[in-house]
Amino acid sequence: MSDNPNTDKNRPLIGLAQTLGQVQRLVALTGAGVSAESGVPTFRGPGGLWRDFRAEDLATPQAFARDPRLVWEWYDWRRGLIAQVSPNPGHLALAELEGLIPEFLLITQNVDGLHRRAGSLNVLEIHGSIWEVRCTGCGGLDEDRRTPLPLMPWCRNCGALLRPNVVWFGEALDPARLQMAHEALRLAQVMLVAGTSGVVQPAASFALWAKEYGARLAEINPDPTPLTPYCDWVLQGKSGEVLPLLLTAMRQNN
Ligand code: APR
Repeated sequence: MSDNPNTDKNRPLIGLAQTLGQVQRLVALTGAGVSAESGVPTFRGPGGLWRDFRAEDLATPQAFARDPRLVWEWYDWRRGLIAQVSPNPGHLALAELEGLIPEFLLITQNVDGLHRRAGSLNVLEIHGSIWEVRCTGCGGLDEDRRTPLPLMPWCRNCGALLRPNVVWFGEALDPARLQMAHEALRLAQVMLVAGTSGVVQPAASFALWAKEYGARLAEINPDPTPLTPYCDWVLQGKSGEVLPLLLTAMRQNN
């Protein structure tokens, strides 16, 4: 995408910017791609493997039951990596967009906390947070930002093993968060989907639910996804480049 928001190639961007200037209710959905430009590898892209394991091999209750130390080593490695990176211009643009739209909800599949660090306020972390630990015994929840973590980490209250407070494959999303997401999707006029491959449920269906309820869809991604054919605006490119351009175009319209 060109730096100049007024070229023909950027028409979808101009059209989307014009629409966003009038929208009252917007839902954004983000995935790992939004953090890629901060230096956090995506799950299904280059660098997505850790010691030859895929996320699907480690991010499951079965993997944790079989080898909790291995799973904790993976999370400890990711925590160490995320602790050293910063929000990128895509995160910052989404935080700024929140201030321009009366009702704005950012639903993220990312557990890295970078949206909040960028200043986003109304954030629904549907897959949890890598900075929280949950006790497998008493269920107690705690924030823990130590890097590295002692392996393995034990609960101070009951002595049982802690686990990352994230949603693993095969686990249900928190019903209250799902309900909140659903309500916002029902009312959204526009849904902006950025940096997700759109293959992990239920988030992969969120945009289609919103469309069914009447929202128009915009996608920002360097590559096509299963969602692309349903989108009203397809902005092909990196979120760290496209989202700031979108903000620039919105400001020029006003
Ligand atoms: N800007 C925007 N999108 C990008 C960028 C970028 N700079 N770089 C890559 N992408 C896109 C890729 O084209 C891909 O479509 O980001 C997407 C990343 O896809 P995944 O790695 O599958 O990440 P995500 O969709 O967030 O995965 C969903 O799966 O492993 C689980 O729980 C984990 O939350 C995660 C979920």
